[in-house]
Amino acid sequence: MKNSIFIATLSVVLLASCTPKTSPATATTMGASTSTAEQIVQGKTIFENSCGKCHKLPEPTAHTSVQWVGIMNSMAPKAKLTDAQHQWVYDYIVSVKK
Ligand code: HEC
Repeated sequence: MKNSIFIATLSVVLLASCTPKTSPATATTMGASTSTAEQIVQGKTIFENSCGKCHKLPEPTAHTSVQWVGIMNSMAPKAKLTDAQHQWVYDYIVSVKK
């Protein structure tokens, strides 16, 4: 009896963990742009104000969007960005590259 409850729970967990992969439209990974045009404009402002303080303002086209994920992960805390600002700046950078 206990065992079947365990298996039932396990399959619910497995189903739940598989769901995002089967519906890419709802994916909220760093790779997918989730920001509105207004947020990207904010991202540009934050980028220009915060990212040129310690070094020259970086060139968005100088790195791939995958490299930018890693760069932003190390630079966002340096620039004291919130998670939302981190996302907007990233989406701005990626939007420049297209
Ligand atoms: C508090 C200072 C500081 C701020 C603010 C800052 N950076 Fe940096 N950044 C550094 C330092 C120091 C390095 C070089 C050492 C390193 O890579 O950690 C660096 C390196 C970089 C590099 C080169 C990385 C590479 O792999 O070639 C890029 C690109 C970059 N920063 C982008 C940004 C962006 C975008 C922002 C704004 C979100 C930002 N930085 C804000 C200090 C800062």
